[in-house]
Amino acid sequence: MSADDVRRAEALRAALTRRLVAEGSIRDERVAAAFGTVPRHLFVPHAPLDRAYADDVVLMKRNEAGVAISSVSQPSIVALMLGQAGVRPGDRVLEIGSGGYNAALLRELTGPAGAVTTVDIDPEVTDRARELLTTAGYGDVRVVRADGEFGVPEDAPYDRIVVTVTAWDVPPAWIDQLRPGGRIVVPLRLRGQTRSIGFDRVGDHLESRSATICGFVCMQGAGANYERLVPIAGDHVFVSFDEDQEIEAHPYDGLLQQPHLQAWSGMVMNREEPLADLNLWLAATLPGFCILGADRSVQAVAPTPRWGAAAAVTADSVAYVTSCPARRRPASFVELGVQGHGPDAGELMARLIDQLRWWDAHHRHGPGPSFQLWPAGGDVPAGFRIARRHGCLVVSWAE
Ligand SMILES: C[S@@+](CC[C@H](N)C(=O)[O-])C[C@H]1O[C@@H](n2cnc3c(N)ncnc32)[C@H](O)[C@@H]1O
Repeated sequence: MSADDVRRAEALRAALTRRLVAEGSIRDERVAAAFGTVPRHLFVPHAPLDRAYADDVVLMKRNEAGVAISSVSQPSIVALMLGQAGVRPGDRVLEIGSGGYNAALLRELTGPAGAVTTVDIDPEVTDRARELLTTAGYGDVRVVRADGEFGVPEDAPYDRIVVTVTAWDVPPAWIDQLRPGGRIVVPLRLRGQTRSIGFDRVGDHLESRSATICGFVCMQGAGANYERLVPIAGDHVFVSFDEDQEIEAHPYDGLLQQPHLQAWSGMVMNREEPLADLNLWLAATLPGFCILGADRSVQAVAPTPRWGAAAAVTADSVAYVTSCPARRRPASFVELGVQGHGPDAGELMARLIDQLRWWDAHHRHGPGPSFQLWPAGGDVPAGFRIARRHGCLVVSWAE
């Protein structure tokens, strides 16, 4: 690298750090200092400097089907998660999912008195991470090739665990290897959305302290899991369910060819307002909840959010959330409504509209949902319970 490139990398790094602070992704001086120090370009050697310092994910590997399976994560998400983790000098940290960059940031945050172990299931990733960490001056990060589902017991206990791959559950090893009072930050997939949840270990269970919507590649190995997709209009429109959801009778392919009904809720929002908390509320309160996803080219579906629409189904009917431009409001405002097909559509739509209005009146401007994760088999408190393979997630909303 020429001296000019080194100066350019420094300037780009400083600019990225300033931007992340200005946008609120970095809220902690120590995280800002780490971002200002770690040379991200050394961890994405194939990317030009301006790509290396853009607030963007850098893809490292796809599987045979073309699906992304490894990347160096987007700086703003990395920053938010480091904020959630609250790593202190001297902490022992486990990172699950390696790339090198985040491990180097963690090493800056732990300082010389702490330690960082990073684990990845893919030997190509661990070989590269080891080499790049050494080149960047972080050769004392321990890089382990293993299935992160089981943690890295030989370096436990940890004060912090930072999971950088989408998980469906918190396996027992992660809780066991976390010190009492320690914190785990994990992107959890729930009902079609991924939230990075910062949980503290409180006795034998976890309690959330923060949550932010994010996106990551999916976990492989023993913890792998996928949403079940049920087509309802050829290959172009489907509804998806989580593993724990009972699907009593599959909605059938052809549902959308039935005549539709539409109703409007009176609930107006800016198009940019996130729908994730609303969708989780609908998931908690509506039987038959699922996510309807559609190819943009499909005319049969009313406008739906990019990531899919909250929906409810029975064996022969579906209703889903849609939107239209709000009357007498600026162009960026929409009114939420519902569209339905099939004999039960009217009833499904009425329930959806009731819950949209309830959330609008009672929770839209509140603190948002909080989460607890309890080991299977014990007493689990009241709330919206989502049974996972190893434990039970309880979602609740402050009244
Ligand atoms: C988004 S990348 C990690 C990004 C990285 N932390 C960084 O510094 O930007 C996710 C990684 O998780 C890894 N992964 C997937 N399943 C895993 C598992 N069961 N155990 C450990 N690593 C896993 C993938 O191989 C991939 O490299």
